[in-house]
This record gives sequence, C-alpha cells and structure tokens, in this order.
Amino acid sequence: MSLTWFKKGTVYQIYPRSFNDSNGDGIGDLRGIIEKLDYLQSLNVDILWLSPIFSSPNDDNGYDISDYCNIMPEFGTMEDFDELLQKTHDRGMRLILDLVANHCSDEHRWFEEAKKSKDNSYRDYFHWRKPASDGGPPNNWKSFFGGSAWEYDSVSGEYYLHLFTKKQPDLNWENPKVREEIYNAMRFWLDKGVDGFRMDVIPLISKREGYPDAPNVGFRKIIEDIYANGPRLHEYLKEMTEKVVSRYDAFSLAEGVGINHNNAGLYINHDRKELDMLYHFDILECTIVNGKFEEASPFDLVNMKNIFKRWRDAVHEKGWLANAMGNHDFARMVSRFGNDKQYWSESAKMLFILQSTQNGTLNIYQGDEIGMTNIVLDSINEVKDIQSLNFYNENLETQRYSKELALEMINREGRDNARTPIQWNDEINGGFSIKEPWLKVNPNYHTINVEKQDKDPDSILNFYRNLLKVRKNHDVFVYGDVEELEFNDPSIYAYSKVFGKEKIMVILNFSSTNTKFSTSENINDAEVLINNYSSIEIFKDTISLKAYQGIILKL
Ligand code: GLC
Ligand code: CA
Repeated sequence: MSLTWFKKGTVYQIYPRSFNDSNGDGIGDLRGIIEKLDYLQSLNVDILWLSPIFSSPNDDNGYDISDYCNIMPEFGTMEDFDELLQKTHDRGMRLILDLVANHCSDEHRWFEEAKKSKDNSYRDYFHWRKPASDGGPPNNWKSFFGGSAWEYDSVSGEYYLHLFTKKQPDLNWENPKVREEIYNAMRFWLDKGVDGFRMDVIPLISKREGYPDAPNVGFRKIIEDIYANGPRLHEYLKEMTEKVVSRYDAFSLAEGVGINHNNAGLYINHDRKELDMLYHFDILECTIVNGKFEEASPFDLVNMKNIFKRWRDAVHEKGWLANAMGNHDFARMVSRFGNDKQYWSESAKMLFILQSTQNGTLNIYQGDEIGMTNIVLDSINEVKDIQSLNFYNENLETQRYSKELALEMINREGRDNARTPIQWNDEINGGFSIKEPWLKVNPNYHTINVEKQDKDPDSILNFYRNLLKVRKNHDVFVYGDVEELEFNDPSIYAYSKVFGKEKIMVILNFSSTNTKFSTSENINDAEVLINNYSSIEIFKDTISLKAYQGIILKL
C-alpha cells in the first residue's frame, strides 16, 4: 500500500455560497475564502475542496455549469481564483475543484446549440429520444429531484434526459467530443495548478443501452442497477485517468452514488487505475431507507458499525476510501448522529473522534468544526434548496403528506440544513455578511460561532484542531488495521487500530447515560491521547464513560 499525501491529508469541503461574503451582497465568494485562509490553516486541514465555482445560472447552486472554464460572477473573477490558489499553496495546503461531468446547465452553449435543431452539431452532446407511443416520456425514469427524468422540447418534438433538474441536461459520454471537452476543462484547471477533483455523481455517466424502464423497486436499487454503473463507465474512467489525472500530481475523489461495497473495487482498486478514492453513501444515508423524504429509520449504532466494517473489509489494502459524515447534501452530522441539545459539544467532539479514526481520507464539511446544527425553517418561503422545493411542490399535488409534515421532513433531512451561512461571530448575520444572506443564518449563531470557540480552549473548534495535529503525528489513525471490540453493543463503539508498532484504542459512548467498558488489554499504563472530557476514570481493566464521552488511548 502506498503512503501518499492525499491519503493522510485532511480534506475540508467549502460550500462557497455559504462560507464568507467579502463584498456584502449576501453571497459567499472567493475573496471571502481568501480572507479566511489563515483560519483554514489554523484548523490543520490540508486540502480544500470547493463546491462548484464555475459560471452557472444556479438552479442547483453551481451543480449546473454553463461554462467550465470561467468563474461565476457572484463568486468573483479568474484573478481572484488565481490568488486563492496561490495563497492556498503558499500556506502548504492544496486545492481541489468539483467536477460536474454527468450534466451541464441548459444555459451552457452546448445545450443552447443542441436544442436549435436535430442536425445541429451539438445535438449529440445530449441524450435525445422520441416520445413514447402515447406522446409521453420515452421511459419511466424518475429524476433524483422528483418528476420524470425527461423533458419535452417542442422545437424538435423530442425529449432530453436530465437525471437531476430539467435545467441539468445529461451529457452524452458516448460522444468522444463530449469526453474531450470535459478532459480539456480538467486540463485547464490542472495546468493552473489545482490538485485534483471531487467528481460529482460520476458513476452515472454511462447510460444503459436502449434506456430500459426501471423495475418497480426502491429508488436506491434503481440508482444502482439502472442509472449508475453503466456498461462503458469503467472504460471512460480509465480513459480520463490515463489521459488527464495521471499526468499531474493530482487525485480524484468520486462521489459514490449507486456504488456498493461489492462493486466499489471496480472504481478504486489501485491496479485498475481508475479513481483514487470514493466516498460511499451508506454512512450518510444510514437513517434514510429508500431515498430522501421517504420513510426514515432511527439512528442505529450497530448498523453504523456494520457499514464501516463491511466497507473496510471490501476495500482492505486494494483500494482507498474517503470518509465523510456530513456534506452539503445532508442534514448536519451532530443533529443526526449526536445529541445537538444537552450534549451538543460532547457529542460533536465524540463524532469527530469516530470520523478521524476510521480508515480513509478524512473529509470535513464546513461548519462541523464548530458543531453547526440543523436549522428550523418556519415556512416554505424560507426553503432554498431545489430538491426540497421540488419535493414540497410535488407533494402539494399528490397530497401524500400534510403540508406541515412535508415541511417537518424538509427540516429533518433537507439540504439547506448544511447550507446555512458559517457562523463567524455573534454580530449581524453571524458575521457572514452585512446584508441579509441568500439563506437564513441559524439563529443559534449567538452561542455557536467561530470567534467564541476560538477563545475557548475546550471548544469543539479547538478539539478539532488538536485532534488533527495528533493525527498528523500518528500514521496509525490513517493506515491502521481495525479490530472491533464489543461489536454488538448498541451504545458503545470500541475498536483498536494497529500499524507497525503503533497501537491505539478508541472507545466511544454513544448514549446520554454513564456506562462502563472492560477490556482484556492492559490499559493501565496507556497514554490518553484524546479525551472529550477533562478526565477519565480507568480502574484495572475497566473504563467509566460519561454521556457521549470518547477517548483515544495509545497502548
Ligand atoms: C451531487 C451533488 C449535489 C447535486 C447533484 C447534481 O449529488 O453533491 O449537490 O445536486 O450531484 O449535480
Ligand atoms: Ca459576495
């Protein structure tokens, strides 16, 4: 197994729209990130990942790109980008961009040309099909964001495919010209010196021949069997790696939609020379049964242990994972897996102990380092996320849930939870902007904010900083082999990790009651490397843990 910078490095995901607004228009921007580079460096993170910053009409906040080689004016200019990249590198950090290659915007020139006529030279950049015999969409595919995945175009009388919103037409990767366009865009940024890409919904780029109807099964299964993992996918990934990524000191991080532990190796096993790492959805979706805004299941620790374990076993030594417990598409980590009320600080820290000691490249999502929580939006007018809005509007038609319940579901699972502006201080709008931000700031910014936590040695923020520093000095955190302890315990998560001569033991209490943990290891002389409380009681072979207490022992 090779030990490289992107395995040990910690990724910090920035959602630029919500990070920091430098010019007072209510929208975060690149200069806002530049202003905070010292802060980012102080976290001890190594790699910044920017959610899309390219020209976009923002139907899906930049995941609908209208020009791959330009900066969205709201975010700034190319000069701002060059400065950001330079200053990031000057601080010894790296920068990766978000490559959205499955689809572009309907306002991209390619699509504007393509829809002009059937014989336009860009027509074949997209997926066009004749209507079904009843005039309806060519098949039963549903968009990830609700409704049919096909949109009718009255000019040509044909439908085009959009697995996301109708303003995100899917690109036709069968067309070698499309592939070259995307590779050229990648080269453009790599030549500037960016250090890699996070690849948005990359498992979807190869479509199944004949666009077969989806069977009547859960949406997750449909994604795996019909939308993702298409017949030419691995050919494309190999080509992309061979022609582009492998020519640079850069890495690829795939968003693993539709990938399971059985087929993951096809993407990331080193010998296949496709992708460097991927993050799967099983942890992020562990309380989501079939898809967002469907039936939810309560958090179950043993289920989470099983997920981590089966992925570790599947990937072991052959490939590499990225490890994320939160991002811009899911509700806040501490609100989902911890206790964001009484044990807010304890549980946020404990969850970070878990995340930072699991295998794979650590991915932190902005705001989790101060324990940002879910927000309660009081009315649908405050909701900004297109996925949530589409769900709400569709539900108005079907009346499956009451309006109140629909809003409650949005508040529980919706993407806006993770997109509220970063809470920098307790001044107006949490110090994010002098103007009213594009999305409401969580009113708890008076108590939860960077400035306050910066001064407090016991804060979540300083806990993150310290843990990341310790992690840098111990390869066992990153590369160690895991041995599970008391695997079936529903409230304690414990394991040891070994790498060469280093051994650590991680013990986490996932409950709000005091508990005890016993081990056959000799822990009396162990060094307490990390503890989210000021003390820990160890007596002979038994450790007494308080609510949400987590420790890392060095044996
Ligand atoms: C990915 C992104 C999400 C976006 C979607 C379509 O899942 O993370 O934010 O809406 O792809 O590009
Ligand atoms: Ca701005």
